[in-house]
Amino acid sequence: MQVPPGPRGTELLGFFGVRSAPHTLGFLEQTARRFGPFSYFRLAHQRMYLVNDADLVKDVLITRQASFGRDTGAVILRELVGDGLITRDEPQHRERRRQLQPAFHKEQIASYVETMSTQTADVLNTWPEGVALDMGVQMRRITLAIIGATLFGPEFRDSANNVSSVLNRVVKRAGRIAPFVSLCKPLTRGYRRLYPEGRSLFFATERAELDRVLHPLIVRRRGSTSRDVLSLLLMLQDDPSSALADEAIRNEIVTFVLAGHETTASALTWACYLLARNTEIQERLAAESAAVLGDRLPTIEDVPRLPYAAGVFNETLRLYPPVPIFGRRTVEPLEIAGYTVPRGASVLLSTYITSRNERYFSNPTLFDPDRWLPAAPPPHKFASFPFGGGSKMCIGDAFAKTEGTLILAALANRFRLCSDRAEEIGIAGRGGTLQPAKPILLKAERRTQ
Ligand code: HEM
Repeated sequence: MQVPPGPRGTELLGFFGVRSAPHTLGFLEQTARRFGPFSYFRLAHQRMYLVNDADLVKDVLITRQASFGRDTGAVILRELVGDGLITRDEPQHRERRRQLQPAFHKEQIASYVETMSTQTADVLNTWPEGVALDMGVQMRRITLAIIGATLFGPEFRDSANNVSSVLNRVVKRAGRIAPFVSLCKPLTRGYRRLYPEGRSLFFATERAELDRVLHPLIVRRRGSTSRDVLSLLLMLQDDPSSALADEAIRNEIVTFVLAGHETTASALTWACYLLARNTEIQERLAAESAAVLGDRLPTIEDVPRLPYAAGVFNETLRLYPPVPIFGRRTVEPLEIAGYTVPRGASVLLSTYITSRNERYFSNPTLFDPDRWLPAAPPPHKFASFPFGGGSKMCIGDAFAKTEGTLILAALANRFRLCSDRAEEIGIAGRGGTLQPAKPILLKAERRTQ
C-alpha cells in the first residue's frame, strides 16, 4: 500500500514528547512542516494520517464525514462521561444531538446573556488592585460560574469549587495519557465492549466524586420551569418521545460542565496574555467597550456592537485553539489526496497547525484581530476550525463566542492588564486543553473613566 511521506524510526519517539519534540503537538507541527499537506506515520499497529490542508480538512469533516467515526479523544472521554453526546457515534449521536439542540438555539443563548454578564462582574469585583493574578485560575472561575449557572441555576455556586478541583485533575491526567491511549486504543475499546457499564479505566474516583456533587443539584432541579440547560433536559425526560434516562442526564451534565468551561477558560487565558503583550490592541478593545457599554453590564443587544471584542476572541482561537488536535477514525477504506486510507486508521486534524500555515494567513504568528472584522476578506472556512465541523461540531460554539466576546468587553472596560515581565510563554502541550507552559500572571489596573 502506498502511503504519504512522514517520520520513521526513532523520530517517532517525538509523538510521546521524547527526543525530537517537546510534546505531541510539537511533533505533529514538525511533521506537518516537513512533509506538507498530508503525512503518515505508524505507531505499532496504529496508522496515523496528519492533515495540514484546509480543503482536505473540509473533505474529512464535511464532504466525506460518513466514512469517519470518533477517535482517541472519545475513548478517553467515554471513561469520564460515559455514553453521551460527546462520545456517541452515528446513528445514536444524531438522535441525542436532536434532543439537546434546543438548549443552544439562538433565542436560548440570548436568555443566558444576563447570567453571563452578572457572573463575570461578580468575579471581576473581587480582583484586587496591584496584585499579580493567575489568569488561568481567574478565567476558570468565570467560565465555571457561567456554565454552572446556565446549567443548574444559582444553586451551583456552592458546588463550584468541588467540581473545579475534580475537573482540573481530570484535564491534567487526560493530557498525560492521551498519547498512550492512541497506542492501545483496541485494548480500551475492547474492555468497554466487554464491560459497557464497567469501572472507569482512568477516572473512577473522579467520576464518583462528580456524581456525589452533581446528583443533589439534578434532583433539586426536577419540576423546575426555568429555562436553564438542566431544566430543558429534565423536561425532555418527561416527554415520552425522547425517554432520556437518569444516567443519560448525568452523563450530559458532566459533559457540559467539562466541555463548556475548560475550553472557553483556556481561550480567555491566552487572550489576556496576548492583550497584555499588545497594548495598542488592548486599548482599542477598551475604547470599543467604553463606547458601547459605558458603565453598565453587557446585554444581548451589545453582542453585534462589539465586533472588535469578537475579533480578539476569534484571533485568540486561531493562535491558541483550546482543542489543538482531534481525530476521526475511518470506518471504511477511502481515498484522500490520492492515497488509499484503510479502515481503522486515525486521521488527525489540527486547527493549531493549519491556522498557522502562511498559505491561509499572511504573517501567521502575528496577533491581528482585524483579520476577523466584517470588512476583512473571509479566510478559508477550514483554515481555522477551533470548533471542529460537520455533524459532530461543537454544539456550544455560539454559546462560547457570545460568552468570550462579553467577558473580554467587560474586562477591558474595567481593567488594563499588564505584566512586569515581557517574556514569551510557550505552550505546555500536555494538557487536555491547550495550556501555557507557565501560569500567566498579570496585574489588573482599574480604569478610571
Ligand atoms: C472556546 C470554547 C470551545 C471550544 C474551542 C470548543 C471546541 C470543541 C471541539 C473542537 C469539539 C469537537 C468537534 C468535532 O469533533 O468536530 C467540541 C465538541 C463539543 N463541545 Fe465544545 N468547545 C468550546 C466550548 C463549548 C461550550 C461552551 C460547550 C457547552 C456549553 C461545549 C460543548 C461541546 C459538546 C457537547 C461537544 C460534543 C458535540 C457533539 O459531538 O455533537 N463546547 N468542542
